[in-house]
Amino acid sequence: MRALLFSTDVPPVLLAPMAGITDLVFRRICRSFGADGAVSEMVSAKALCFGDKKSRRLCEIDDSERPTGIQLFGHEPQTLAQAARIVCAFSPDWIDINMGCPVHKVVSSGDGSALMRDPKLIFRIVQAVTREVDLPVTVKLRAGIGGVENAVECAQAAQEGGAAAVAVHGRMREQFYAPSADWGVIARVKRAIDISVFANGDIDSPSAALEALAQTGADGLMVGRAALGNPFLFEQIKAALLGMPEVPPPSPHRRLEVARRHIHELVQLKGEHIGMLEARGHMGWYFKGMRGAASLREKCNKLTTIQELDTLIDEAISMQKG
Ligand SMILES: Cc1cc2nc3c(=O)[nH]c(=O)nc-3n(C[C@H](O)[C@H](O)[C@H](O)COP(=O)(O)O)c2cc1C
Repeated sequence: MRALLFSTDVPPVLLAPMAGITDLVFRRICRSFGADGAVSEMVSAKALCFGDKKSRRLCEIDDSERPTGIQLFGHEPQTLAQAARIVCAFSPDWIDINMGCPVHKVVSSGDGSALMRDPKLIFRIVQAVTREVDLPVTVKLRAGIGGVENAVECAQAAQEGGAAAVAVHGRMREQFYAPSADWGVIARVKRAIDISVFANGDIDSPSAALEALAQTGADGLMVGRAALGNPFLFEQIKAALLGMPEVPPPSPHRRLEVARRHIHELVQLKGEHIGMLEARGHMGWYFKGMRGAASLREKCNKLTTIQELDTLIDEAISMQKG
């Protein structure tokens, strides 16, 4: 998978899939700051098979952001295979299968991290999808579920089924997103399989990226939460991996101008109503650590038009100078 998709001299660094966040706009921004690729928000295989328009929209990819994987969730091999066939119309560079989502609603339907209870099912799913489409198929795992750490067994099942790579988030399902990720489990997966392994969990700085690679021997990295409001992290990590001089964090002004571009593109893609609602979360992350962040966030949450947001961003920029 690494050789197939990433012609980088150093381990590729991908934007991790995040529902409600890693849409085409954010993926494109992260790519412009050095991410080597990204994965879409998770898309329901079942909904795609029923022709759901919203789910289809989640699969749209812009050529400028490639390479991009589309992530499917579900648990029935044939449904996932059929959905994979459907998403081929969007020409993803690979198809990823979600085997890590910890959310109750998802797990209770047998999807997401629930798949890790049954490595044989993982094998059947990956086999069905790889037989159906002529694209690399990857899976995203956690350390395990229900007190059973079996990422190694699940990764082996995925490899046997024909997966091109696995990403491992070093936490059990029950841990959701805290405490810290265990990179040891990723190292064990890496030693146990021949296909590429992407390390995920708490990679939030150039030094963490170097440390994660050293500890796990992984072929690449996946960065999630630390990229929120901070797509600049990719250029910082890339510089560290290439042994180049440290890239300083962006000035507040630069950060706010990127935020402006982000929300303008969001509004262009999704319309002003949805774009401005989604802007609240993103702007909250961009404002983090800035002067007046709390009041800026509060004001932002009341905005309804892109012109109002432009004015608030101008105000924020001048606040940083004073
Ligand atoms: C808001 C949010 C949404 C997420 N959505 C998905 C998803 O759709 N598919 C998936 O595989 N993982 C999802 N994840 C998990 C991330 O991809 C990643 O595994 C996790 O955040 C750990 O990496 P990090 O410490 O770099 O954030 C989500 C995480 C967050 C915080």
